[in-house]
Amino acid sequence: MTGPGEFLSSNRALWNEWVDINARSAFYGLEEFRRGGTRLRPYELEEVGAVEGKSLLHLQCHFGMDTLSWAREGARVIGVDFSERGIVVARRLAEELALEASFVHSNLYDLRSNLDGKFDVVYTSRGVLNWLPDLNGWADVVAHFVRPGGIFYITEVHPFALVFDDEVEEPVLRLRYPYWTTEKPIKFDNVGSYADRSAPVIVPFEYDWSHGLGEVVTAISSAGLTVEFLHEFDFTEWPMPPLVEREGDEWRMPRGRFGEPQGELPLFFSLRARKRGQPEGRTPSRSRTRSRRGSAASSRTAGPATTAASANVSAHHHHLAGQTWNHNSHPPPTTATRHGRPVRSCSCRRRKASAGAK
Ligand SMILES: C[S@@+](CC[C@H](N)C(=O)[O-])C[C@H]1O[C@@H](n2cnc3c(N)ncnc32)[C@H](O)[C@@H]1O
Repeated sequence: MTGPGEFLSSNRALWNEWVDINARSAFYGLEEFRRGGTRLRPYELEEVGAVEGKSLLHLQCHFGMDTLSWAREGARVIGVDFSERGIVVARRLAEELALEASFVHSNLYDLRSNLDGKFDVVYTSRGVLNWLPDLNGWADVVAHFVRPGGIFYITEVHPFALVFDDEVEEPVLRLRYPYWTTEKPIKFDNVGSYADRSAPVIVPFEYDWSHGLGEVVTAISSAGLTVEFLHEFDFTEWPMPPLVEREGDEWRMPRGRFGEPQGELPLFFSLRARKRGQPEGRTPSRSRTRSRRGSAASSRTAGPATTAASANVSAHHHHLAGQTWNHNSHPPPTTATRHGRPVRSCSCRRRKASAGAK
């Protein structure tokens, strides 16, 4: 392998193999999801805020469970993934569950050629950044699709949690993997899928890129978005030996004999950023005028109220992967429900690896 294109092709073939394995796995809990519920965590629901009636673009949506969870919250959703199989399964699932959702097959880096529209919320989560060679290119795509006044939200494993050796026998922290982006990806031997290690998989390797947290924040702000918060959490949403031990559906740093904390590390993060400006067609409201004089909430806390009309998602036909689809041609959205079901999350890494793929 020589360039990012070849690494991406290989990873895409791997994801195509993983889709059906993951959809069958206990890890994803699809059967339970079919009966209702969500894969979204309470903290992200809170941090994204109410999405009822809003347009939401989900980047790297896999086979759509998170996308459809947002549909259950009342958002008008479009999921994007470069795995053809993922998109096929996602569309089938949306139809089966009678949830309004569209799915676009596209490499993230080509999305501006494959999708029109601006969105109230651009969302991505859990095991996404490690597949991307070019963080600035990613951030430009993200920023392109956020409408003025809209937000980008990401929740992801903290890059600092990914630097430690995951093959040690003892629970010790030993540095092994790069923190900042390397030109070449890290090459991992592939063993099944992260959701089912015993599943037979033909693609032998996985290629991952590290990205430091500063690089992520800088890419987002260089793309023109204003970071509103960056939260670091002391848990991961999947096991990552030797770092963490399980507490419910969260994994944390091992504790001492008497349950006392033995130091802390950031293991997960969330970030929200906003595009400055007004949605098209909106005029400044009275409260906005007042806030400039300092007598109302700041624009940071009182972001523009979003209406479906302001979402400005193109309602035209798109021709993608040989299929015609229409944002308006779906059944009406189902009522949002949240059942507080513990969510399972995607794991990325770690197996035998060599830094710097050949
Ligand atoms: C870990 S999954 C997404 C996580 C999601 N929260 C889940 O667990 O269902 C990562 C997704 O990124 C997609 N992906 C990787 N590289 C991509 C690219 N360049 N363009 C679009 N999708 C990509 C993969 O196909 C996969 O579905």
